[in-house]
Amino acid sequence: MASPSPQQVIESQRQDWNRVAGGWEKWDRFFDEQMAYLNHRLVADARVRAGMNVLDLGSGTGYPALLAAQTVGSTGSVTGIDLAEQMLEAARRKAASLKLSNTTFQTSDVTTLPYEAASFDAVTTRFCLMFLPEIPKAVAEIARLLKPNTWLAAAVWSAPDKNPYLRIPMDVIKQFIDLPPPDPTAPGIFRLAKPGELAGMLQQAGFIDLAEQEFLGDVRFVEAAEYFSSLMDIAAPIQNLWTKLSSTQQAEARQRIIATAGQYQKGSVIALPIAVRMVAGRKPG
Ligand SMILES: C[S@@+](CC[C@H](N)C(=O)[O-])C[C@H]1O[C@@H](n2cnc3c(N)ncnc32)[C@H](O)[C@@H]1O
Repeated sequence: MASPSPQQVIESQRQDWNRVAGGWEKWDRFFDEQMAYLNHRLVADARVRAGMNVLDLGSGTGYPALLAAQTVGSTGSVTGIDLAEQMLEAARRKAASLKLSNTTFQTSDVTTLPYEAASFDAVTTRFCLMFLPEIPKAVAEIARLLKPNTWLAAAVWSAPDKNPYLRIPMDVIKQFIDLPPPDPTAPGIFRLAKPGELAGMLQQAGFIDLAEQEFLGDVRFVEAAEYFSSLMDIAAPIQNLWTKLSSTQQAEARQRIIATAGQYQKGSVIALPIAVRMVAGRKPG
């Protein structure tokens, strides 16, 4: 089967993430509590300070754009962009409830951004770049938009083996249906998992002072059923696989996912490991 065109990838991404926007809003407080440390890390790696003009790519429901907005304060501004208007609607509601008037969310594709060259003092992006059909093009676009001597900080998922949080349902689904081995160059959750891959693209685009770290953490649940429901509500790519199962298979698969997650019980919580590749680079001055 022919690979989808870049435009087809972008359209299906838009549909996928609009579809799960309600789930992201439903679980917002939970995931904010669980993964806020990644936002702090990105805002630090991008050297965000008061008064800066920051661009956040693939902001979804506002991560890490809203933390960047609090950091730049009233003399700075943050622009968050995303393909999925419904994800951004949730981000706007959160900005309003936090009384952040320095934040704008705009629907746009990361690969073709409607901004002048050298408009931004920092670029952040969490869990977005691996879904792009043309990552090197997007990285070149980021380099164009940054002012000299400023930073890009990106978070992408590391390898499936180190991410039981994401991997458990995928492994269980494969017990029921034959899935073709993933094309390592196709957009998807683990597209940028390989060490050095994103950093190499940054280098190609002229970034210097490259830094890369595999950042280990976990997501903690009171019970495994909560893990199952929350992940299925927000993870559009996993939902797409899930719908390939019959309802009988889904019932059995749910039990197996919950049983496997239960093996990660530590004291009073189920702690599912995650591994995130944090990559940063500076545009030369
Ligand atoms: C997993 S969500 C991450 C959202 C948010 N950054 C976070 O970490 O919570 C991925 C987001 O990337 C967005 N996205 C995917 N491809 C995109 C593209 N080509 N341009 C802009 N946004 C894109 C999706 O719409 C989705 O909201």
